[in-house]
Amino acid sequence: MNTAPYLKFAGPVLDEATIDGVADVLRSGWITSGPWLQKFEAALSAFCDGRPVKAMTSATAAVEVALQVAGVGPGDEVITCAQSFFTVLNMIVKVGATPVFVDCDLVTRNIDLSQVEAAITPRTKALLPTHWPGSLVDLAALHAIAARHGLRVIEDAALVMGSQWNGRNIGATGDLVTFSFHPNKNMTTIEGGALVLGSLAEAERVDALRFHGITYRPDRTRDVAFPGGKFNLPDVNARIGVAQLALLPSFLATRRALAGRYFERFATDPACLLPPRPRDGDGQSWNMFSVLLPLAGMAISRQEFRAALDASGIGTGVSYEALHLSTLGRRYGYKEGDLPVTERIARETVTLPLHAAMTNDDVDRVCAASAAAIARKRS
Ligand SMILES: Cc1ncc(COP(=O)(O)O)c(C=O)c1O
Repeated sequence: MNTAPYLKFAGPVLDEATIDGVADVLRSGWITSGPWLQKFEAALSAFCDGRPVKAMTSATAAVEVALQVAGVGPGDEVITCAQSFFTVLNMIVKVGATPVFVDCDLVTRNIDLSQVEAAITPRTKALLPTHWPGSLVDLAALHAIAARHGLRVIEDAALVMGSQWNGRNIGATGDLVTFSFHPNKNMTTIEGGALVLGSLAEAERVDALRFHGITYRPDRTRDVAFPGGKFNLPDVNARIGVAQLALLPSFLATRRALAGRYFERFATDPACLLPPRPRDGDGQSWNMFSVLLPLAGMAISRQEFRAALDASGIGTGVSYEALHLSTLGRRYGYKEGDLPVTERIARETVTLPLHAAMTNDDVDRVCAASAAAIARKRS
């Protein structure tokens, strides 16, 4: 019988100092957006080399607001990747635009930039790629395409807070960039997200977009000119964010070491599982370690594999289901076979445990359980 504690596939690390800090905010009498939000945004801005940053209640809210800042609306098309989370599809549709999916690369799992220009039409307004942890989108090539066609870029950086591109943090360069602080991400505010902006004028517009659309008249009465959202991050969450951002380097160091351990262990049994290897192991933030099960050569289905790990006390995830084959995606005319690489990943991918509370022994346990599950089916 398995007696080891259940190993979650993702999760946060919250220390006692952070918990005490939250208690102080709760006792302070100011619990919604206030001084801690300002401190958090200042720290995020410093992290992004001084660019304006606005925190929100989720990355999903940040993507919706980013699309609005980019002027995306009815009649527009947004090019994105179907190997991503529902947020990108949902928010494009929610602002009234049409999602246009481009296939991704099997190894990096990022949007295949060589296919993007063929998908651009006169209605294209923005590019919305998701960075895959361990292998960032090529930002130089992405922005070159955007500049050639006059498009806005929204980088979905939910999974890569702390990854670096050419030695600079993701978010420190580019156009609009969104982060997630969900508990499964590299750092958390419980729920939360942030949007990095290109100018102070756009940041000011976000103040209204995230808070009812409210602006102030000279006599300090309020006005609304459009129906804004209600996405302001409370101080309780911002207090956690300030502490987590300070701890991020240590979280990332642990994640990198654990990812390294996975690669080491899988290297001894390459036939067992096929992890998507990064182009460059350095400067990556390793939010997830997702492998492709070489199903063709195995008698085990993904469902059986995940059930076997679950029975060994190990949690797994699926990142991600193919967005174009969701009920909503199919409404835009997509069908099986349209994006073969995305579809293969969606069929074969399994996300193994990787978070900053884990040890090398945990990785070894996952690798042993994976090998045992596959060997049992082979024999
Ligand atoms: C790639 C990606 N983008 C966006 C999001 C949305 O993040 P949030 O839960 O903060 O809205 C997620 C959440 O899992 C994600 O995985």
